[in-house]
Parts: sequence; structure tokens; C-alpha cells
Amino acid sequence: MKKTILAALAAFSLSVSIAQTKSPAIIPIPASLISQSGKFVLNNQVGISVSNQDAAKQVAQQLAQHLSQSTGFKLAINPSLQETGIRLQLLTKPNTNLGTEGYQLKVTEKNVTISANQAAGLFYGMQTLLQLLPNEIVSNKVQPNKTWTIPCVSIDDQPRFGWRGLMLDVSRHFFTKAEVKKFMDDMVRFKFNLLHLHLTDDEGWRIEIKSLPKLTSVGAWRIERNGKWSNSPKAADDSEPKTYGGFYTHEDIKELVQYANERYVTILPEIDVPGHSLAAVAAYPQLSATPGEHKVYQGIPFMNWFAGGFAAIVDNSISPANEFSYEFIDKVMTEVAQLFPFEYIHMGGDECAKNFWEKSPEIKALMAKEGLKTMNEVEGYFVKRVEKIIQSKGKKMIGWDEILEGGVSPTANVMSWRGVKGGIEAAKSKHNVVMSPTTFTYVDYVQGEPSLEGPVYASLRLNKSYQFDPVQEGMDPKYVLGGQANMWSEQIANYRYQQYMMWPRALAIAESVWSPKEKKEWNGFFKRVENQFDRWDLSGDRYAKSVYDAIVTASKDEKGNLVLHIDSEIEGVEHFYSIDESAPDNYYPKYSKAVTLTDDVQTVRIISYRNGKQIGRQINLPVTELKKRAEKK
Ligand code: ACM
Repeated sequence: MKKTILAALAAFSLSVSIAQTKSPAIIPIPASLISQSGKFVLNNQVGISVSNQDAAKQVAQQLAQHLSQSTGFKLAINPSLQETGIRLQLLTKPNTNLGTEGYQLKVTEKNVTISANQAAGLFYGMQTLLQLLPNEIVSNKVQPNKTWTIPCVSIDDQPRFGWRGLMLDVSRHFFTKAEVKKFMDDMVRFKFNLLHLHLTDDEGWRIEIKSLPKLTSVGAWRIERNGKWSNSPKAADDSEPKTYGGFYTHEDIKELVQYANERYVTILPEIDVPGHSLAAVAAYPQLSATPGEHKVYQGIPFMNWFAGGFAAIVDNSISPANEFSYEFIDKVMTEVAQLFPFEYIHMGGDECAKNFWEKSPEIKALMAKEGLKTMNEVEGYFVKRVEKIIQSKGKKMIGWDEILEGGVSPTANVMSWRGVKGGIEAAKSKHNVVMSPTTFTYVDYVQGEPSLEGPVYASLRLNKSYQFDPVQEGMDPKYVLGGQANMWSEQIANYRYQQYMMWPRALAIAESVWSPKEKKEWNGFFKRVENQFDRWDLSGDRYAKSVYDAIVTASKDEKGNLVLHIDSEIEGVEHFYSIDESAPDNYYPKYSKAVTLTDDVQTVRIISYRNGKQIGRQINLPVTELKKRAEKK
């Protein structure tokens, strides 16, 4: 009897302490996390001990380095596992549940133990451990009077997908080698493991190909144009110096690959052909089916986009009808395959305009010779030959989902971007698929109120990104390698703005590709995101707070009056507005239901508050803009 009462009391006090323990704000949320009472105290007496393997030692060194920046502690690394302190253990008897990237992390008052089958697991365990520490751990400066505690927890964690990617477009904006390294540092914190480098496009060729030197001497440089993309008032004048650009040498790439390896990141190189190839064609005009001079992007429009399609104003494609094109691709792929250890090479294949091909005698001759009936079949012929070249270098080909349109080979792999339908179709045809649909993962799209953001034609809010699921209905999961977010840089002119656009939306993608689907929950996620905001403030990294701004739409009622609607992505936000040309605060009318605007109103101003504090930016919308929004509805 006494025993039962004692057991009941023990169970009660355990449940109370669990209830009182705040759940740690880890992103992506681990597969299993049990909070316990108590904490481990980190001080400069704590050692890091490792099971004696080089890979574990490397992670231990990285951990010591991370911890020293903000704590100032110089933690000793002991090459044999100790009873106390921080312990990194590579399991000699594999735990099959953990796979190649999973880990267990156990924090008690006595020690902190990370166990994994492979070093990548220790590395991800380390990322989780860093997130368990107080936020100041991310500071680049020593925080002298801080007490560093780690809450007791027991975590079992492994990724849902092996392909957890971020794409960086280094063509439209050239990101330096140091910036690409920083990009990797930013991504691995949230357990991304794949960096897709979009290395070539109309705006610049960014990788040295020693056998084709003009690709970088000509193709990597353009005239400098600021302002809105593709909106320069004048084309390049040949007398203007081509000062904008850059490229990675072989040595640079080797350094980046090494940096990636040390962080368990794989780099996927993309050479985008046959479209998006103005820089290549400018360097080697023989590549084009259209005779004449070709220039790297000049700041003026070169493609026409219209409802349901597009056409090139200048031919920016590589000709499928010319043997020189295949010799060229062979040379490029030879060097790319040697430089990047990853088993895949991305060949692009997206958005190839065919209007110049339609007029080209050499394309017509190819069609007659090969029995090709449509322009998509012409592109399909090209893609199949490119795949053979890539395979001849011992690699697998992946391409954007347009490659399905020309009748692709069964071994091709597909990156689905035009919504999810290409991915569904590809998986149904038994192609491996990486999901990166515009509808959830295009982080170059506007993330909040358009009048406050950059000039991009499409919108994607954090809440929508969080709904990303790489496995869509009708897909056999065995064909889904994973997912990624894409950062196109036509309108991204610097690294800080890249961060602003990437984060926090990439957190939503990280959780969608790492965490079990059933663990995802928006309100809980957003609380953890807000904790991450504090961390970025402390580390000096940039991110967007656009999620706090009001979502403003408009409609017309049956009498033709303009009606204002305000919504929010998150709970607990109040919106106050003015219609009298003054700036509102939280004593102004509070929005609670649709507001009919009378004809005399000129501007609506809206501001967001939470718990009496302003959190969103002020939005000022002229009625003319609201009328446009009403028309779009
Ligand atoms: C793409 O966004 N054109 C792949």
C-alpha cells in the first residue's frame, strides 16, 4: 500500500515537473523529445569526450569552436569517452532506427551524450544541442556573466528525407566564395544537407571551365545595372566596361566542396541548358541556332512573358541541332563531374523559348533527320543526349520538370517546380523526384504586404511555406528524394537581402523535410520561429518579420462599394486603421470585420499590435491600389 502511494506520488511529481518544463524551441522539431526536470551546467571545467574515431573528433572540434565564441570557454577534447561532461559517441553497434543522419541526445545533470551511427548524426545532434543552450550562445562575442545551462531532455531524431536542399542562384547575383560558405553555415543550423548551386544563366557563367576559357572571360561579366531587374532605361553600350560579375575557379570549387564536406553538405552543381544560356552563347556564339552577335544580359528585357507562355526577344538557347553544342556540353560536364563528388548533375532544362528554333533552318533539318515532330521533341532529343553525356562521366542527371515534356528517358530524375503536378506525374512514371514547387518553396517570392517588400510578381507567405509536404497525394513516397527551397537572385542584390528573403521561410521548409509530418503544427512552430528571431538578433543575421504585417485585401460589394479586409498569418495580432490621412496607433479603430469604404477615402493606413506593442510595420495603401486588389479577387 505504502509502495503504491509512493509510486503514485513519484509519478505525480514527475508529471508536474514535465508540465512545468518549457518545451525547447528546436527547429526542425525532433521526431521524439521528452523534457525532463533538471539541467546540465556548462562551464569551463566541462570537457568534450569522444569515442575514439576521427569523425567524432572533428565534430567535437566544431562544437568546442561554436561554444567558445560566446562562452569564452576553451573546452578540452578527450579522445576517450568519459562519464561526465559532453560525450560524442559513434555507435559501434548500429541503431537501425537512426539511419545515416539520425542521433540520440540525452541531457542529464551529470552529462550530455550524443550518439549516432555516423558522424553526420553527431553533427545534427550538435545543432540540436546548440539550440538547447540559451539564445546568447549564437553571439559572436563572449558573454561574460551568462550562466550556460542545458535543460535535461531525451531526444531521438532522424530526418524524414535524405534530400533537404536550398538552391542559391549565383548567376543573377554573384555570391562570393565567402558568402557561399556563410550560406552553408546558415543552412546547417537547421539540418539542411544539400546546396544546389545554380551556376549558369543568362546573367552570368560562374564556374571556370579550363577547356572553354571564354565562358568566364566573356560569360562571367556584364555591365553594372542597378534598379529594378530587366528594367534598365538603356541597353549596354559596347564602350561601357563590364564590371559586374565573377566566377569560381577550380580551386575555389575544391575549397567549397571541402567546406561542405566538413559540414555534411553535398553540393549539387547546375549547368542550365538549353535555355537560360545567354552567357554561354555570348562566349561561344557557335552554340546558337541564331546567327549574329550575342551579349550577356544587358539589364533590358530579353524575354516576353504573357498569359500561358513566353517567347525570347533574343535567342538565349543552345542549339540542339549543332554537334558543337554536344562537344561543348561534354567538355563542361567532364570538368563539373571531376570537381563535384555528388552523384547527380543538374542540367536545368527549364523555360526554354522555342520561337527562334521555329525559324531556324538547322533545327528544321534536325527534325527531318531525326523524325521529330514538335519543338518539345526537339528539346527532348537534346535532353536525352545531355543525359548520355552526364552518364558517361559516371553521374546521374536531374533536371527541372520541363524535361518530362519532350519524352524523357526512364533514368532521368526530376526537380518539380511548376507547382506539384510535374512531381506527381514524374513519380507516377517512376522517376525519382525532388519537390521544390513555386507554391510552397520559392523564397524569392514576396513574403508579406507587397507595398513593403521587393518588386516580385508572386507571393508566398510563411504560413503557406509551412504547409509544404514533399509527398503529395498520388505519389509513391519511394520516388520522393526530398524537397528544397529555391533562392533565385534576379532581384536579390546582396547577401543580407538574400538572408531576409530566405529566413524565416526556409525554417518552414526545414521542418517540412526533416520532421515527421504528424509533428508539424503551425502555432507551436511560430512560437519557435519567434525564439529564432531573438537568436538572429543576437547573431546579427538578417531575417524578415513580414509575418507580423497585416494581410490586406479588398473586394466590391453588390452596390459596387469598395470593401476592406484585413487578416493575419498568426494568432493574437490586432490591426488598427485610419481612413483620415493620419498615422494610426492602437487607440484607432480596431479591425474586427470587413469595412465598407466611402468614396471620399483616399488612403487606408494599417498598423499591427500584439499585447499592446506594435509588431508590424505601418501599411499605407491608396484607394487606387485597393481597387486593383478588388479586381484581382
Ligand atoms: C525555374 O524556376 N525556372 C526552375
